[in-house]
Amino acid sequence: MGKRITDKVTWVGKVDWELKKFHGDEFSTHRGSSYNSYLIRDKKTVLIDTVWLPYDKEFVNKLKQEIDLREIDYIIANHGEVDHSGALSALMREIPDTPIYCTANAVKSIKGQYHEDWNFVTVKTGDTLDIGESTLTFIEAPMLHWPDTMFTYMSGENILFSNDGFGQHYASESLYNDMVDHSELMAEAMKYYANILSPFSPMVTRKIKEILGMNLPITLICPSHGVIWKENPTQIVEKYLEWAADYQENQISIVYDTMWNATRKMAEAIADGIRQADPSITVKLFSASKSDKTDIITEVFRSRAVLLGSPTVNNGYLYAIAGILELMRGAKLKKKKAAAFGSYGWSGEAVKLMNEELAKAGFEVVDDGFRTTWCPDDDVLEKLRGFGSAFVEKL
Ligand code: FEO
Repeated sequence: MGKRITDKVTWVGKVDWELKKFHGDEFSTHRGSSYNSYLIRDKKTVLIDTVWLPYDKEFVNKLKQEIDLREIDYIIANHGEVDHSGALSALMREIPDTPIYCTANAVKSIKGQYHEDWNFVTVKTGDTLDIGESTLTFIEAPMLHWPDTMFTYMSGENILFSNDGFGQHYASESLYNDMVDHSELMAEAMKYYANILSPFSPMVTRKIKEILGMNLPITLICPSHGVIWKENPTQIVEKYLEWAADYQENQISIVYDTMWNATRKMAEAIADGIRQADPSITVKLFSASKSDKTDIITEVFRSRAVLLGSPTVNNGYLYAIAGILELMRGAKLKKKKAAAFGSYGWSGEAVKLMNEELAKAGFEVVDDGFRTTWCPDDDVLEKLRGFGSAFVEKL
């Protein structure tokens, strides 16, 4: 059943409490998600986005309870990814001639996935659609986070339909930000930004400044995932500007993997040294193989610096560290410092290799790193505490 937002706008999406992984197995969604679709009833009737493919029939059936599908004048596809376009095929079987308004890049992405030549109407930034008392204005937002992405602004109701932008993988039966736990919501919003949008931070900043420059009154920001920003809606816009500007908190994350606990002991001694040098710094330790990789990237995102640890195995570092390094590279984080550490038995290449990869990933490597043979004894543990303290001095 739809949920009324305003006299003209009804939420007709799907709350997915079961979802625990997104983008295949890449993104953990501990708190589920939602695929938000919005039905606008003015003089014309408009559907904005649909839901993920497994819920396509459910979506169409519920939409039929809300409206005679033949009354839908326009469909707007703000983004072609399957979590928003997944029900298009089922819907277009019912109303095959209904125009789909989207960017030229969305025509490519939607055709590329569904191989259908639907009635696409391509739009660009500034194009408008008169739907009665309200007007819809389209704002292209390429690479936020696909080339095809756009926002749609509805005058009168002053709603920005922002698709993935400002979204959160956060299932809620309540529609609005002021109806949910604020700290949970902001944690999910940051996790979404860190893992999906951070590679595109320069575009985020430019796009937000462009929208702010349009001086549009904004009463609601309606993203395609999670809750609607209703109470102080632009708080998330301000957060995005902060997150996009080389965000960091006073935190050091120590991310390591270990085979026989030597590298874990090194990580813990380094953490001791950091705390001794500056108790105000938040220090967190993560096992790359046991902790959730999406959560680790979120913690790296909010850190001033990262220490990466692995023993040497087969002249390299461990598998989980390779995976985290790849995610760190892809996030395109800037102005963060780093160094590596690890134990070894005989060849000992891991520390040098990790430092090289950290540098390639855009981190400023401030130390050659610390490596030790076999398992650290008391003397080496003390040196590791010193290494942790010295690392703080280099930040
Ligand atoms: Fe929520 Fe990029 O799709």
